[in-house]
Amino acid sequence: MLADLHTRVVVSLNSRKDSAQVPEKSLDPDDWEEFRALGHRALDDMVDYLRTVRQRPVWQPLPESSKALFSAPLPDEPTPAADVYERVREDILPYPTGNIHPRFWSWVGGTGTPTQLIADMVISTMNAAGLGFDEVASTHVEIQLLDWLKQMLDYPGDASGLLVSGGSMANLVGLAVARNHTAGSDLRTLGVSSTGRPRQMFYASSESHSSVRKAIELMGLGSDSLHTIPVRKDFTIDVEALLAAIKSDSAAGHQPACLIANAGTVNTGAIDPLVTLADIAAEHGLWLHADAAFGAFVRMSARSRELVAGLERADSLAFDLHKWLYVQYDCGCVLVKNQTAHRNTFSVLPSYLRNLDRGLASGPLNFSEYGVQLSRSFKALRAWMGLKTEGSKRYGEQIEQNIAQARYLSDLVEQHPNLELLAPTSLNIVNFRFIHQGLGPKELDKLNAEVLMTLQERGIAAPSSTVLNGNFSIRVANCNHRSRREDFDLLVASVVSIAQEVTAAG
Ligand SMILES: Cc1ncc(COP(=O)(O)O)c(C=O)c1O
Repeated sequence: MLADLHTRVVVSLNSRKDSAQVPEKSLDPDDWEEFRALGHRALDDMVDYLRTVRQRPVWQPLPESSKALFSAPLPDEPTPAADVYERVREDILPYPTGNIHPRFWSWVGGTGTPTQLIADMVISTMNAAGLGFDEVASTHVEIQLLDWLKQMLDYPGDASGLLVSGGSMANLVGLAVARNHTAGSDLRTLGVSSTGRPRQMFYASSESHSSVRKAIELMGLGSDSLHTIPVRKDFTIDVEALLAAIKSDSAAGHQPACLIANAGTVNTGAIDPLVTLADIAAEHGLWLHADAAFGAFVRMSARSRELVAGLERADSLAFDLHKWLYVQYDCGCVLVKNQTAHRNTFSVLPSYLRNLDRGLASGPLNFSEYGVQLSRSFKALRAWMGLKTEGSKRYGEQIEQNIAQARYLSDLVEQHPNLELLAPTSLNIVNFRFIHQGLGPKELDKLNAEVLMTLQERGIAAPSSTVLNGNFSIRVANCNHRSRREDFDLLVASVVSIAQEVTAAG
């Protein structure tokens, strides 16, 4: 019947054709076998690339010869796919950020796993739009992954959740729910500038990630609504100062609305006293949002899970799968306990997005009602395949290995007379510097910056940097399943030898 209909349509359309009709085209390959051969070759190259990553420099700058590729004009005419791939192989592939390398420890870089390379092939082939309400497999994969994540983090099973681009977006979504839910008026209709409303105050330590401030500014609250609380020596929030801030804001007529807890600060990995903060939030009627961008998955480590006890009490929880769940970029997640508050913040359902009783637009839910994005990739498959392949226990062990390696590095630093820890190592981040008798603070900053840049330029290792208590710090953040103890031995030996080289030359 369908074939009959098709024939009738084609005949009717053909009858309207001009005699000089242009043949219709698609962007599929003319020769599928040629495409298959190229695909096989590319896959072989990728597998070799991953397998041999340890033998390459962590990072190398993009040479001028490759930069030329990026100033070429817009191509009007086609180039054979094999030739384009050759450029990728020669001018792009050898020059990555380096985060898949065993000695990459910059920012909070994730490594990914080989299994997810296969996931990426499937994601790209299926090219699902990820709307959520379509009764198709991708929706169910994402819902199951969210259920697994709640289970892994001891978060209530009836919480709502959404995969997003990363921790920054997860913070924005969680904080937007906090803002709307605590506003006491219909912010979506009236806007934040409606008169007669007290200023909603958000509290976070001075060590909180910049995305928190960005979210508050983007939400139209103004950064004056972020009350920044000082930290103690261990870089955790000063609870006394927090209580005083809540009190003084209330006295000034503001509305204390939301407390943001860090489970792993970006600079040092410090974990705020989560249980105490949950108690304070409960007592003062504050929404508790936890930025657990990388700390969340410590919950999976049998040995260290207590470090993040209390995380499950957060009203909203932001974390990244692309950091410490070893998922390929990009993938973050936000969970919200009050599903209705979550949906009420984002739901806009025009007629063209409504569910139907049957067919493609039937099905479990519409993800766009829980966040900013409408079209979304099928990124859930990477984490889903990773967890299925490795099992959650294995991930817990890998995380514990990273924590133990950070302690190992920390011990190496403490044992060396010319190295100094600049922060306590509470999780997977180690901050240290080279010290040399007779050098003042500015000279030490300069020396350590020079050491770090040289380490990276020689392709030996890639820590990043930060400033702690005014001192330049070499910062090692370890979310790397490929690192071994010998890599940290090499790091320490190289820092010392480069520092000696620089001081001798200077
Ligand atoms: C504590 C913390 N929060 C938020 C973020 C932002 O996450 P993303 O880079 O995935 O947006 C980071 C990134 O390192 C982080 O460490």
